[in-house]
Amino acid sequence: MASVLAQSQECDLLLLDEPTNHLDIETIEWLERQLVDFPRAIMIISHDRYLLDDLVDKVFEMRGGQIEIFDATYEKYEEQKNLRQHLKHQAYAKTMADVKRRKASIEKMSRRNRFDSQISSKMKRLKKLQHVENPIIKDYLLRFHFKNVFKSGKNIADGGNLSKSFGDTLILNDVSFEILSGQKIGLIGPNGCGKTTLLKILTGAEKPDGGILNISRGARWGYFDQEHLSLNLDNTLIEEILRDQKDLKETDAKALLGQFNFRGDIVYNQVGKLSGGERARLAFLRLIMQPYNFLILDEPTNHMDLKSKMAIEGALNSFSGTVIVVSHDRRFLDNVTDTTFLMANTSIITYKGNYSASRLQHQKELLNTPGARLNDMLGGNLKKYVVKKSFTDWTTRRKYKIGEEILIGDHNFELYEWAINNSRLKCLRRNK
Ligand SMILES: Nc1ncnc2c1ncn2[C@@H]1O[C@H](COP(=O)(O)OP(=O)(O)OP(=O)(O)O)[C@@H](O)[C@H]1O
Ligand SMILES: [Mg+2]
Repeated sequence: MASVLAQSQECDLLLLDEPTNHLDIETIEWLERQLVDFPRAIMIISHDRYLLDDLVDKVFEMRGGQIEIFDATYEKYEEQKNLRQHLKHQAYAKTMADVKRRKASIEKMSRRNRFDSQISSKMKRLKKLQHVENPIIKDYLLRFHFKNVFKSGKNIADGGNLSKSFGDTLILNDVSFEILSGQKIGLIGPNGCGKTTLLKILTGAEKPDGGILNISRGARWGYFDQEHLSLNLDNTLIEEILRDQKDLKETDAKALLGQFNFRGDIVYNQVGKLSGGERARLAFLRLIMQPYNFLILDEPTNHMDLKSKMAIEGALNSFSGTVIVVSHDRRFLDNVTDTTFLMANTSIITYKGNYSASRLQHQKELLNTPGARLNDMLGGNLKKYVVKKSFTDWTTRRKYKIGEEILIGDHNFELYEWAINNSRLKCLRRNK
């Protein structure tokens, strides 16, 4: 991404196809800043709503082979879309009333057996009207509920003093954590810090080098692994749904697939022909058809379109079991999680609250940590700044008020660079 941005200063239009996929949050935020400051036009495909919220002023929505254009920010687009949808519903209701009226009139005319030619032309017009699509059905959003069959104890899992290395690379160093029944945990951290490894330790696929891991006896876990979706590519979609659901009827399998936006003849296609996002969506459906009470999810929404992502958010919100989910999508994390595990430098810090709440807390902790210790931790150059003019950090929506103090060092300088350069923040003194 960095090299593309460096080379593209001369271009007129920068085309980006899902640039944030697989990037960690820190890198996404870096990219956001580059794109916001980019002097040329940008056309971007993205499923990251925070990025879209802040970046775009025009939205092209593609569906059913057509493009609808909204002259709006992403937030406004959602509003306008709802309004357009409402108008479509009204128009549809009006058309249906018209159809009813015309039908009655045709019936009346046929009974009197008059004006044959008029009847046939009226019938033609009626046929046309009846072909108007019902937007309510068309827009039927997949709604589904998780089965949550097993009850489990208070703690679904505990890790005590866990350690793990791959060769010389230390991944976990004396890490302890608790996963309580019903918690929705977002596991975040930079690429390569060991998130997938931790999930694999939970499933038993990786063994820790030291420490103890307890999984509650009542826990029935299901694992979503983006790389290995455990799909049989030669099967059709229907066969994949019926594979381990012996009692399910084909019509029910079709209805379930329909709820996951697989409609029409696509259910008879081979799984191997699906796109990456579609495969993930199918794998997720297969996962939630099992009676699990603990979902271990590794980047489940990568490559998914916004609608599928929202459906999965809805499902996870109505699931009363426990979830630990790795994701780099901040809005997804904010909508789904109530606890955050931040993995960094071989340790895990637990925060109450979703991604945005954990970020605020993290900032507060930095402020309350004695300067000298923090300097050691963060590699020096730490200074205290005071807010001179209020401003908003648009990545977290955090408003900074006049008089607030912030510790800024090499680790977070970039976050506040704009505010410093624009005299919103003034350096107070160097922390000893
Ligand atoms: N089986 C293995 N053998 C050797 N090294 C491994 C193995 N599995 C993972 N690693 C290394 O351990 C580190 C952590 O990997 P892991 O996949 O857990 O990171 P991650 O946080 O999930 O990253 P990402 O955000 O990119 O998914 C990486 O440097 C990786 O190369
Ligand atoms: Mg990973």
